[in-house]
Amino acid sequence: TGAHAEVEFKNVTFRYAGAEKAAVEDISFLAKPGETTAIIGSTGAGKTSLVQLIPRFYDIESGSILVNGIDIREMKQHTLREKIGYVPQKASLFSGTIAENVRFGAKDATDQEVMDALQTAQAIDFVNEKEDGINTYIEQAGSNLSGGQKQRLAIARALVRKPEIYIFDDSFSALDYKTDAKLRSALKEETGNSTIILVAQRVNTVMDADRIIVLNEGKLAGIGTHEELLKDNTIYQEIVES
Ligand code: CTP
Ligand code: MG
Repeated sequence: TGAHAEVEFKNVTFRYAGAEKAAVEDISFLAKPGETTAIIGSTGAGKTSLVQLIPRFYDIESGSILVNGIDIREMKQHTLREKIGYVPQKASLFSGTIAENVRFGAKDATDQEVMDALQTAQAIDFVNEKEDGINTYIEQAGSNLSGGQKQRLAIARALVRKPEIYIFDDSFSALDYKTDAKLRSALKEETGNSTIILVAQRVNTVMDADRIIVLNEGKLAGIGTHEELLKDNTIYQEIVES
């Protein structure tokens, strides 16, 4: 249905200014619309660096990143970023109501659209428990919310925009397994033909993804389904056993 965006990395290498070692080295993969592409790897493996290249927070050293076959360097920044719902690893909320925080992604979203986004993000129950519902005031940086509640509001903020590409950087890490699973299945149902790119540290979060990219020290250590990687990828096996 409607707009969709395939994301392709072709031999992408990226280095932070002045760094000796590349943070992302010779990475190639395809993330398809309607599918979930997961990225797993230990801390410092380059997961955040990799996903931040998609909205072009940094420019790559070599290779190319294509969205629907077009090199992102040839797209207007506004056109590119409009397609992307990016939930950063350290998502930040501001002082204001829950509705205002969710609407940060889409100023003209209706209350119903805000509620729908909260529903998909598995945030509606805790929001409804508050006396003022979506008009509940969030204290400075969300100090009156738990880590998992903040994560879910940040996810709702991306959902309300209905982007073609979702990037979730470790957005499920503070959730219990049950909520994590419910959220991912709701995402699958509600995001239609969008492309989902999901970074995680734990295997449970990635195991039902359509493809899993294993990163190790900035390099591609393997791509496959959970079953495929479990069979023959030693790095993935180590993550499973840890
Ligand atoms: N790095 C850097 N400058 C930055 C950010 C990161 O030099 N501004 C380096 C880090 O020190 C690390 C590598 O880039 O060696 C990859 O970092 P990152 O992409 O943040 O790794 P993640 O896999 O996202 O690690 P985590 O699971 O801890 O989030
Ligand atoms: Mg990271």
